[in-house]
Amino acid sequence: MDANTLKATKHLVHQYSNQAAQCFESRRKKIMKLFDNKSCPDDGWSDEEIELFLHEIAMMDSNNFLGSCGIGERESRFASKIVARRHYNMGHGIGRSGDITEIQPKAAGSSLIGQLSNCMILDLLKTIGLPSLKKCILVPLATGMSMLMCLRTLHNKRPEAKYVIWPRLDQKSCFKCILASGLVPKIIKNFDTGKGLIGCLEDIESEIKNLGSENIVCVLSTVSSFAPKIPDDVVEIAKLCKEYNIPHIINNAYGIQCPSYLRFIEQASKSRVDLFVSSTDKNFMVPVGGSIICGFNAKIVDDVGKMYPGRGSAVPSTDIFITLLNIGKNGYLEYLEKREKLFIYLKTELEKVGAELGGEVLEIPGNHLSIAFAFTQFESLHHKLFTEIGSMLFSKFVMGARIVAPGDTKIISGYEFKNWGSHTDDNFTGYLTASAAIGVEKKDIDCFVRHFKSVLLKVSKQVNQKVVFEAFKAV
Ligand SMILES: Cc1ncc(COP(=O)(O)O)c(C=O)c1O
Repeated sequence: MDANTLKATKHLVHQYSNQAAQCFESRRKKIMKLFDNKSCPDDGWSDEEIELFLHEIAMMDSNNFLGSCGIGERESRFASKIVARRHYNMGHGIGRSGDITEIQPKAAGSSLIGQLSNCMILDLLKTIGLPSLKKCILVPLATGMSMLMCLRTLHNKRPEAKYVIWPRLDQKSCFKCILASGLVPKIIKNFDTGKGLIGCLEDIESEIKNLGSENIVCVLSTVSSFAPKIPDDVVEIAKLCKEYNIPHIINNAYGIQCPSYLRFIEQASKSRVDLFVSSTDKNFMVPVGGSIICGFNAKIVDDVGKMYPGRGSAVPSTDIFITLLNIGKNGYLEYLEKREKLFIYLKTELEKVGAELGGEVLEIPGNHLSIAFAFTQFESLHHKLFTEIGSMLFSKFVMGARIVAPGDTKIISGYEFKNWGSHTDDNFTGYLTASAAIGVEKKDIDCFVRHFKSVLLKVSKQVNQKVVFEAFKAV
């Protein structure tokens, strides 16, 4: 019902319908503002407002038209009411067979959600650190797959080239996206700055000279990385890319939640950033399944959209649409502020653990998301004991902490990574990484620290017993 329809109720409920009409009118204004500004609202909407809006939008999809009769092979039918409800009766997805960003003729409602969520994200990103950003599209693919799409798009533009210069980052998907796109990685070693590891610029430049710029599809750098790696120097890499005329993609998987990382990307864009990719689940607390492909030149982002073969699920766009309407720009900014404070809290608490039980928080000022706690007290610890620390934490339901022990070698499609997990071939003391990511609560950190301390005490006891036993044996 709209405000005009409501007027017809006047003879039934007298003047009281006027008040209801006023409420309807203010809701209508909110919706009109969203359509006109195409931006993320400052303040969040209530659940009821959003759900009502979604039901109305769903009525724009052909499967919900009164009297519609679908005789095609894909008509958004639901065998289960639970599934229909879960998707607000929208099942057509987004895009057309040749372009994920095109409007789907059978689904004006789903397409509207897709378009609006792209605009809302663009607006939000411009606000929090990327004022020069021109376009972003949310695709129903996780980060690794989206990077594959970006690589394929760039390769199309320079089909003779086959190399991707990639500063090492020990996370499988970001390496595998290069292999899956049929290209050849050139792995760049990280250089130890004394305050974290970073992709070596000199090596990138000499690799460019060695391979010849015309043979290079792009440099794929990373900003969001696990300590002790810090963001690659994307500003200097972008300068090299500009100088040698090589495209530049940035993996910003979970870096939207960190405005200082966005500012690096913005600064790099003054030289050369073709595309960057971020995950929706890692930055916006929605289920896995989507990512955002962004660029400072709309054409290249459009080209990636056109590369997408077929329609795609509307679910990731709908989840972001609902989330951003629900929390608003101010809500997102509050999450960012809270995360920053809790990152400092996590670091301080781990420093206290180190002072009490041994071990050391590594000083890595460039990483604003992830912390490394080195087990300096167990330096000679057997590899098995390190992995046991991880298992003990896991059995206490501590999720997401990574134990990195020296000596793990991983081979991915014939490429060998020494000390897998550590981003470096060089020797190091085993450590744990922990992050304060968006949505983390103080109680999560307190609970983790409590369990971590109990695990460290247990391991210390085992180590001491072993030392006494060895000494006893030696006598
Ligand atoms: C830096 C980095 N790149 C890429 C990925 C892959 O993300 P997805 O699982 O969304 O493909 C991850 C996942 O953790 C990551 O941390």
